[in-house]
Amino acid sequence: MTSLLELDNVTTFYGQMRILEGISLQVGAGELVCLLGGNASGKSTTLKTILGIVRPRSGRVLLDGADVTDWPVPRRIARGVAIVPENRRLFGQLTVRENLELGAVLRRGESLADDFDRLHALFPRLLERRDQLAGTLSGGEQQMVAMGRALMSRPRLLLMDEPSMGLSPALVQQNFQIISDIHATGVAVLMVEQNATMALSIADRGYVLSTGSIVLAGVAAELLRHDELKRAYLGR
Ligand SMILES: Nc1ncnc2c1ncn2[C@@H]1O[C@H](COP(=O)(O)OP(=O)(O)O)[C@@H](O)[C@H]1O
Ligand SMILES: [Mg+2]
Repeated sequence: MTSLLELDNVTTFYGQMRILEGISLQVGAGELVCLLGGNASGKSTTLKTILGIVRPRSGRVLLDGADVTDWPVPRRIARGVAIVPENRRLFGQLTVRENLELGAVLRRGESLADDFDRLHALFPRLLERRDQLAGTLSGGEQQMVAMGRALMSRPRLLLMDEPSMGLSPALVQQNFQIISDIHATGVAVLMVEQNATMALSIADRGYVLSTGSIVLAGVAAELLRHDELKRAYLGR
């Protein structure tokens, strides 16, 4: 069966520095997969390589089996990939609604009414706050806007870079619930997380990165029980 996303032996450099060393991974349609690993292991670089912000030196990125390695970012977004970036990257001087509309820029001319209805069902808070400047929202609300903005492009694959970063424990819990809810609507998710236990508790499968290589991969429930993973990568 063809995967929605496949990385085939991807090696990515920044200048002279090799960051990813022959990464291969797959995400199937509707799957929830987490990418774990310590600081500077290459998690964000992997997501950037998938979206096309950085290009691999060798290897291939495939969407629905098609080689998109040379495609620019907008073409990949049009094909169904969206990202909730690290630190959210909202436009603080724009309203919630304006930030959300930016997620739909590639759908110019289409009505967004249905999308707003669905988003507001998922995040009632964003309806209340639609005219508020994004920069004045709480961290949890900003995370909802970042997720909402990504959903406005109607993705089939949502990339999330440390979505629980900077949130209080109560909000982290709520955040994972929201990710589960998004996944339950049929969207595939590839989620980068430091919070390995919580990520694995909602994921189907996981991969563990260490200095640019995948050192462990498997079904989430098995990774949760994996002693080596706990000792070496989860700091427990
Ligand atoms: N734009 C860049 N230029 C040079 N080096 C970078 C750049 N972005 C990240 N790096 C380096 O690549 C390595 C992996 O970074 P990153 O993918 O952000 O790791 P992670 O998300 O796992 O913390 C780090 O050593 C980081 O310093
Ligand atoms: Mg990162």
